[in-house]
Amino acid sequence: MEIILADHAGFCFGVRRAMRLTMEAGENKEEKTRTLGPLIHNPQAVDRLQELGVGIVDTIEEVEEGTVIIRSHGVPPEVLAKAEDKDLNILDATCPFVKKAQENASKLYQEGYQVIVSGDKKHPEVTAILGSTDHQAVVVEEEEDLEKLPKNMDKVGVIAQTTQSIKKFKELVTKLMDRTEELKIYNTICTTTHERQAAAGKLAAEVGLMIVIGGYNSANTNRLAEICDEAGAKTYHVETAEELSRDWFYNIEKVGVTAGASTPNWIIKEVVSRMEDIKKEENVEKLDSKAQDTDIERGEALTGTVEQI
Ligand code: F3S
Repeated sequence: MEIILADHAGFCFGVRRAMRLTMEAGENKEEKTRTLGPLIHNPQAVDRLQELGVGIVDTIEEVEEGTVIIRSHGVPPEVLAKAEDKDLNILDATCPFVKKAQENASKLYQEGYQVIVSGDKKHPEVTAILGSTDHQAVVVEEEEDLEKLPKNMDKVGVIAQTTQSIKKFKELVTKLMDRTEELKIYNTICTTTHERQAAAGKLAAEVGLMIVIGGYNSANTNRLAEICDEAGAKTYHVETAEELSRDWFYNIEKVGVTAGASTPNWIIKEVVSRMEDIKKEENVEKLDSKAQDTDIERGEALTGTVEQI
């Protein structure tokens, strides 16, 4: 069994930056460090941060002192303003690409466009983008969301959640073109997302099986799994090495591996290492059964010889 790791698997630039800022802040034991919401959508990485003493709060109202870290998904402007009003040390780890999406949404809104965001309604990044339009933007996640919009619209500005699939975004843009007088498009899908998705899809088309590693709550990991599945590979989404089942690898010649933008390297290594073990166990079993077959053949030959004597 050949194990092939896709290009661009694991931490993206924005997540690596947020992790570095948080770990550095966590080293300062003099004051409390908290992230506003779990820093990234990976429970194992978040657990490690908590072991370092970095706590989590759900709202800014819960914090009166110390350091607060704004995660890479960003927050709506009103939340940032509330944090600034308090005597807190704010570390803004919002990814620059997410900031760009917020700025584009705000610009479209101020120019009088009805802003439409292609993305997941409940994702914190999308909530933050909505905030930059005074929560007037509309999120299109499924076909039915689009159907709820007027058939004919004057000025529409469309942007994407940074981890949206390019296919979904293109489909939405094409449909909007038929029902708007003026359509302004900002492709805010981040380059690393696009590269990661393209590499995963390409690999999935070449192998029989894909293992996608990442948090179940990670939107971009779920999208990777969808893309691999659509490319024709039997696809399993796992968070940790313990979830791998030996049965999945039976008689598989090539298996591809990819990982979401918030999946730490140590988890990828553990998963690949477990797959290497399964591969060795399979090889030993194959050798054992080959040896047994040879013994049977030898036995038969010997019997024959005895009978002939
Ligand atoms: Fe930023 Fe793109 Fe990662 S938007 S957080 S670099 S997936």
